Amino acid sequence: MSEQLTQIKPLYQPVDIPAEIATFPPEIEAEIDRHLAKYPSSRSAILPLMFIVQRERGYLDPPGVAYLAQRLGLRYTDIWEVATFYSMIHTEPIGRYHIQICKTLSCKIMGEQKITDHVCSRLGIKPGESTADGKFSVSLVECLGSCGTAPMLQVNFDYHENLTPEKVDKILDSLT
Ligand code: FES
Repeated sequence: MSEQLTQIKPLYQPVDIPAEIATFPPEIEAEIDRHLAKYPSSRSAILPLMFIVQRERGYLDPPGVAYLAQRLGLRYTDIWEVATFYSMIHTEPIGRYHIQICKTLSCKIMGEQKITDHVCSRLGIKPGESTADGKFSVSLVECLGSCGTAPMLQVNFDYHENLTPEKVDKILDSLT
């Protein structure tokens, strides 16, 4: 092995936690405690806790990551490894309504492009962007498991299926 390769830091080395650590009101701490109590090992609660931190802070920011590392007794990098694996966890600010349009085969064949064009032209943004007021973000994603009702999209946790531009208008109009 070359000298350069042997200088790579081994993974077990601790990584500094940022100075600012997120804080939460007692009712949120109590919610977190309830999740932690469900698991024999606290690290198993990483995803539910991540969702709570994301919900409370809008996205998983560095102080939120530091909080999770401290609460779960894990390294800062352990939290980032999980956060960056799951598309439901956002490590950058995201709109209040996250519109995820499926771009995989069934949806593609059934008119995904028309739906994407319509959503983007209504909101004045491209996939991967957010509106200036922070209300909407649009992403193109892989199959959401609703291929029989293509084309479809997801807004936060809700599915909308068998889409047409008219249906998209109704969905967007209903989001206040
Ligand atoms: S291809 Fe779109 S939900 Fe499966």
